[in-house]
Amino acid sequence: MFTNLEHLGLAVQDLEAATALYTKLLGAEPYKREAVESEGVDTVFFQVGGSKIELLGGTTEDSAITKFVARKGEGIHHVAFEVDDIRAEMQRLRQEGFVLLNEEPKRGADNKLVCFVHPKSAHGVLVELCQSIKE
Ligand code: CO
Repeated sequence: MFTNLEHLGLAVQDLEAATALYTKLLGAEPYKREAVESEGVDTVFFQVGGSKIELLGGTTEDSAITKFVARKGEGIHHVAFEVDDIRAEMQRLRQEGFVLLNEEPKRGADNKLVCFVHPKSAHGVLVELCQSIKE
């Protein structure tokens, strides 16, 4: 089951500049910074009520975020929904004909298991499913 709009992922050119701007915009400091080295991405998270903003900066030439910003410019990169059982939702979406970008849930930032749905399956929007990893 989809339970929450967990976060919006925003792709940015300059993560430090974007962090300073969003700190001003939201009137709050980020609660977490985390590198996801396997994806060539640095992330900064802000809490906004029950949801979050995830700023994404590419750290390598072949990072998906670096390529996204080069191709499309800065902006909304993905929409993330919290799910209560990521494997069950992945199975359900496969049966519904959605194209998933990973076969198995993978470890994402902010202590989540994640899976992405191809934008061509979702009217041009990259959709992330995420499930909190229980500590
Ligand atoms: Co995300």
